[in-house]
Amino acid sequence: MFIESPRYTERFGSVRLSHVQRVIALDSGLKSELPPYGAMGVIKIEEETIKHFEDRMAVVIPVKDEKLKLFEGVVSGVPHDCLVIVISNSQRGKVDRFRMEGDALSQLCRFTIRKALIAHQKDPAIAEAAAEAGCDELLGEDGLIRDGKSEAMVVGLLMAKAAGKEYVGFVDADNYFPGAVLEYVRNYAAGFSLAQSPYSMVRILWHYKPKISGGLYFRRWGRVSETTNKYLNDLISSKTGFETEVVRTGNAGEHAMSMKLAEILPYASGYAVEPQELVSIFENFGGILPTKNLKVMEQGIDVFQIETRNPHLHEEKGEEHLSNMLLLALSTIYHSPLCGEESKQAILAELIKQEVLKEGEEPPPVRLVSPLKKVSTDKFISHIREDFDKYNVLG
Ligand code: GDD
Repeated sequence: MFIESPRYTERFGSVRLSHVQRVIALDSGLKSELPPYGAMGVIKIEEETIKHFEDRMAVVIPVKDEKLKLFEGVVSGVPHDCLVIVISNSQRGKVDRFRMEGDALSQLCRFTIRKALIAHQKDPAIAEAAAEAGCDELLGEDGLIRDGKSEAMVVGLLMAKAAGKEYVGFVDADNYFPGAVLEYVRNYAAGFSLAQSPYSMVRILWHYKPKISGGLYFRRWGRVSETTNKYLNDLISSKTGFETEVVRTGNAGEHAMSMKLAEILPYASGYAVEPQELVSIFENFGGILPTKNLKVMEQGIDVFQIETRNPHLHEEKGEEHLSNMLLLALSTIYHSPLCGEESKQAILAELIKQEVLKEGEEPPPVRLVSPLKKVSTDKFISHIREDFDKYNVLG
């Protein structure tokens, strides 16, 4: 593929945050002339390089009661060499949607001779393994893994680790275009190939997010992303003294990390997860607050933001859902020790203006799951490995 070279990288302590890089062309051919690195601001990422990273990557698909056709389409778009890991919180019982997902997945895997794992978020064996590993924060009062997309992501991460993967990417199950999914994962691989540090992250920015209202309208920005990005940028500016617009992917559901980075970050519950990843990176490696990870600090953290060619069309879940997402996203910034009084007041005013909070209310505290490095992932892995085949769709 051809992608813009990282034109400008902002530094915040040891965090290297690259400005958005656009995908110029999805394919660059086997024989095409190679422009020298960075010539005309465009880089060719070799197919071989993309495959190298895909082979080392697990793609975690969190799913909860999505249309089966959408789920199937998403799986069909994941590059063949990636390990697909589905963590489902779909309905069981009379209409067993989880079973339908498993059947669809196993059919696709049989046809294409590929590997995949699928687990239900409420499987007691997963909760037991999490408890044994000291990951109690993932458990609800019923002793099972709590509901939530973020909780599914953490279980997916643990399974990716158990499967020995070095990179992990996330893709939502409600995407209408399998071709977009293929592109997301190729973009993850492209980003990882540009990283200088073993601690790297790639976040996807959509070219357009179409809305169907009368006709099809190709919208650039969602309300939630626009607001989250603004306050994440303000958080950086308030510490550096220089205004910035570098963050454009605060809510990126589609994103990927090297396992080394994924293991040292805490995860916020529900939809706060993506902005919290950036907030935690700024807190731990921004050079303002003391860090416990001096070794990581030395190597730095690379964050890439890649803009797709494909538009993103997914299921719309309504206004209330968006307000809740905005509240959770801004809570991560509001409750950060990096957030000064002035920024806090600005966030409160924004949430009141957008009718998400009432006068006198405060954003709820963020519920965090500790970094996986702190829990005994080995225990989780050995517990899960005992019957790993149970999760393997091809048994
Ligand atoms: N396993 C599991 N458990 N999956 C879940 C759960 C859950 O409790 N809740 C939601 N999911 C799955 C959905 O089925 C979907 O595949 C994915 O997680 C995203 O959830 P949505 O509820 O569809 O979120 P969204 O589309 O509104 O928002 C997405 O994009 C935002 C950025 O625009 C999410 O990825 C957000 O996290 C992201 O910030």
